[in-house]
Amino acid sequence: MSSLKETGFAYYDLGKKFTYEGVENDLAELQDAFDSLPPDEYAPHLNRYRRYARAIVMPGTHRVEWLPETIINGERYYEYFQGSFNPEYKGAYRCFPSLTKKTMANHLLEEIIRFDFKETFWMKEDALMPVHAGIHFVKLAVENEGEVAVSSPNNLHQDGEPFTFAHLIRRRNINGGINAIATPRERGKMPSDLHPDQLLARFYLMEPLESYGVYDPLVSHYVEEVTIGNAAGSGERSAILIDFQPTVIANPDEIRSMLGDTSSMHHV
Ligand SMILES: [Fe+2]
Repeated sequence: MSSLKETGFAYYDLGKKFTYEGVENDLAELQDAFDSLPPDEYAPHLNRYRRYARAIVMPGTHRVEWLPETIINGERYYEYFQGSFNPEYKGAYRCFPSLTKKTMANHLLEEIIRFDFKETFWMKEDALMPVHAGIHFVKLAVENEGEVAVSSPNNLHQDGEPFTFAHLIRRRNINGGINAIATPRERGKMPSDLHPDQLLARFYLMEPLESYGVYDPLVSHYVEEVTIGNAAGSGERSAILIDFQPTVIANPDEIRSMLGDTSSMHHV
């Protein structure tokens, strides 16, 4: 049994795993994509930058296909809801700038999504439909002494999606950014409040493509804030986060397209 299935946590060194011809170029292209990430408008002053995209992965063939984005004022976005969408809770609605077309065509990114997906496991009825993959490019960046870049939430937490994977793309000139894994019981706490024995794992991702995955129901996870390192110039921790959740066949009573209000419905 894989360690992800056994303990809810697995570490992967994908830099050793992906050795196809051209992988260095593909990695360099992904690193370049992090140079032009826009600030996370939902987390001002946290020195966080991000883009997002949605794909589906086909069970069986593991084919990856990008879902269409939303165009707002000529710019490409993906709409984002955490938890089930309820029009009464507009606060739950977020809209992230899309990954660029060039990034979405990157072969290494597709290989990473497929690798992660193959690590996931499902109840049979949850895998009758394609599985949704949310792909987040997130950069924590600091320029000056005293600045702190924070990931969210800033404690041991669970994401609410069955699986999340994190892939380091670049780490340079920062202090901090340690990862910690604990049981769900420790959620809401800081790793520093726990006895070291209470952590299932504690590690840094240092090299590009060093990665880890969690099966959310079994563990809580944490990444520490980062501050500027000792060298001259700016510092960053750039990572690709990929979460997976099923697109189950909906209960007819819960399908908003069954409400009969055709005036607010669209051809897609
Ligand atoms: Fe998380």
